[in-house]
Amino acid sequence: MTDKIHIPNVVVPPHPEWPKLSEAEKATLKEKIKRLLKKQDAVLVAHYYTDSALQNLAEETGGCVADSLEMARFGTTHKASTLVVAGVRFMGETSKILNNEKRVLMPDLAATCSLDEGCPYELFASFCDEHPDHTVVVYANTSARVKARSDWVVTSGIALPIIRHLAEKGEKILWGPDRHLGHYVQKLTGAEMIFWPGSCVVHEEFRAVALERLRKVHPDAAVLVHPESTEAVIAQADVVGSTTALIEAVAKLPNREFIVATDKGIFNKMRQVAPGKILLEAPTVGEGATCQSCAYCPWMGMNSLQNLAEVLESGKNEVHVSAELAEKARIPIRRMLDFAENLKRGVCISSPSGS
Ligand code: 13P
Ligand code: SF4
Repeated sequence: MTDKIHIPNVVVPPHPEWPKLSEAEKATLKEKIKRLLKKQDAVLVAHYYTDSALQNLAEETGGCVADSLEMARFGTTHKASTLVVAGVRFMGETSKILNNEKRVLMPDLAATCSLDEGCPYELFASFCDEHPDHTVVVYANTSARVKARSDWVVTSGIALPIIRHLAEKGEKILWGPDRHLGHYVQKLTGAEMIFWPGSCVVHEEFRAVALERLRKVHPDAAVLVHPESTEAVIAQADVVGSTTALIEAVAKLPNREFIVATDKGIFNKMRQVAPGKILLEAPTVGEGATCQSCAYCPWMGMNSLQNLAEVLESGKNEVHVSAELAEKARIPIRRMLDFAENLKRGVCISSPSGS
């Protein structure tokens, strides 16, 4: 079925080359950003894959560095009138959808995601139209229009319990766009699912055979894998989870060494929570390697201290989502956030089909 779907070829940009700043220049820029954040009544929300200077600055200034689920939630609870989202476009859009009255800025609006790019609305909508008896569940790494066409939005941090919940209700699921995460949750839940054939160009690069070799050299290392990776890589994991789950694993597990299969931007937070531990990058080289990204998302790399200061000063790069579209897309996102909230409180949840 999915072999009938021809998704567009995603052009992966080269990693941006930012001018190297001296420590003094960095400090000056950071002070400027802090001043501008206050002046603009703005708060910085950053993803774990962004440059470590941005992550640290977000925390120092009362913002947050988080996974995509928590980034979405944070903006809804903070009182600032401007949210500055350092991450990729779907994260900025999600913030705007949930906070339509607030101004949302991004350092670079061209920072997209191969999953989002590989799931154009028209194609996806006709896939959904062909399967009207399926509950549409989309990953957060999608456009506002694709979200608006869905019944549920999920992030990697909440996908498993939501799919398990829908499977228990006997719902058939149309899943998009990340096929690896989709197959992973299907394997664990036994859900009846059909898949959009998208993938993350960063996580797909981890090489299973080279990982096996590295594990032999470091037999006591725990292997931490983000579920956007391939099945053969996931099969070797001690922990599979969202960026937050992988960070928690580094802090909690007794191992001294960890092999990490996700974007290397995450090492900043991992080093903070577990300073004495040894972190090894999962290999992206070996048989069939392309190394377009080498475990470093080029779109996340489009965020820097320089362009953050620029947008705060100029107010350019505002994210726009029409009120009408936001209203539609908010429903499945809110469903996810409510589900997450209820899960914490142990409350029973009903699904959109009423089952
Ligand atoms: P998380 O929600 O786990 O942070 O993942 C977002 C993402 O884009 C991973 O590639
Ligand atoms: Fe998208 Fe992959 Fe980059 Fe995450 S790492 S933003 S899924 S391209």
